[in-house]
Amino acid sequence: MALHLNSLTDTFTLANGVQIPCIGYGTWQTPDGETTRDCVKMALDAGYRHIDTAFAYGNEASVGEGIRLSGVKREDIFVTTKHWVTERGYEKTIKAVEASLKNLGMDYMDLYLVHWPCVEKLTPEWKELNAETWRGFERMYQDGKIRALGVSNYEQKHLDPLWETASVKPMVNQLEFHPGYTQMDNILYNQKKGLLVQAWSPLGSGAVLNNEDLKAIAAKYNKSVAQICVRLALQCGILPLPKSTNAARIAANAEVFDFVISDEDVQTLLTFPQLGFSGYSPEDAPADALAASLAE
Ligand SMILES: NC(=O)c1ccc[n+]([C@@H]2O[C@H](COP(=O)([O-])OP(=O)(O)OC[C@H]3O[C@@H](n4cnc5c(N)ncnc54)[C@H](OP(=O)(O)O)[C@@H]3O)[C@@H](O)[C@H]2O)c1
Repeated sequence: MALHLNSLTDTFTLANGVQIPCIGYGTWQTPDGETTRDCVKMALDAGYRHIDTAFAYGNEASVGEGIRLSGVKREDIFVTTKHWVTERGYEKTIKAVEASLKNLGMDYMDLYLVHWPCVEKLTPEWKELNAETWRGFERMYQDGKIRALGVSNYEQKHLDPLWETASVKPMVNQLEFHPGYTQMDNILYNQKKGLLVQAWSPLGSGAVLNNEDLKAIAAKYNKSVAQICVRLALQCGILPLPKSTNAARIAANAEVFDFVISDEDVQTLLTFPQLGFSGYSPEDAPADALAASLAE
């Protein structure tokens, strides 16, 4: 699958026809300011055309600066940002989109994601609140401020109710995916419904890279474990979002178009013993807990 992809400018097609470059550059935990600005420019210099940020990363403004500094035209770059858990509801969502656009210094974003679902343990009206947030997404989509809409960290129990009420269906679900934590049931459910799945922490935030069994598989292809992780996602029809702050590693992580992982090794990688799981399960509402602790 996805073997039609031969370069960083090749694309997956979203349900509304929007083209999305097949590997995104991740920016979580990249410090705001010069570091994010320079890393984003390094990624664009290396040929990436898709940047993933979030309001909660606190670096949207520096992402925008890096893009402008690169000299690559805005319309040639796909920019994703995410709605934060403190901004749920229709009116707050409209304001959140406007705030993110202002931070980015842009008049539209390519993809906007609900970062984490509201869950029952937080509020009995969780379904209604998720639907209201989504209504704000739809409004900004219809106003041309967002080219494509999606969710992140949604399991079937969160996606199904949204699907019933949404007039514009989510086109993307961004989920944790890497050898050692693949959530294949959820991924296949999303793919069957026509959503593009994106892989967050495709390298397990670095935690899988020194595993000896993964190193042995990578050695067979004369590739690094990071390259195997990125390629694995692509071969599963999943769009990976690797992050690095090092120019050589940023470039190397995208050198994944000159080899194919065998079906047998794909199966091994997808059924690898648990390794590198972030521990963030949506039903535990980890993002809300974080937001609450920061507000204290
Ligand atoms: N939707 C969500 O809830 C959610 C959650 C988490 C992440 N995300 C997105 O997914 C992106 C990726 O996830 P992630 O940031 O957790 O990390 P990741 O891409 O899985 O791994 C990044 C880590 O691996 C290291 N690394 C990268 N390439 C390497 C290489 N070739 N060799 C050795 N080490 C390497 C990096 O260190 P160096 O920087 O030193 O290279 C960094 O420590 C995020 O940046 C964010 O955009 C989304």
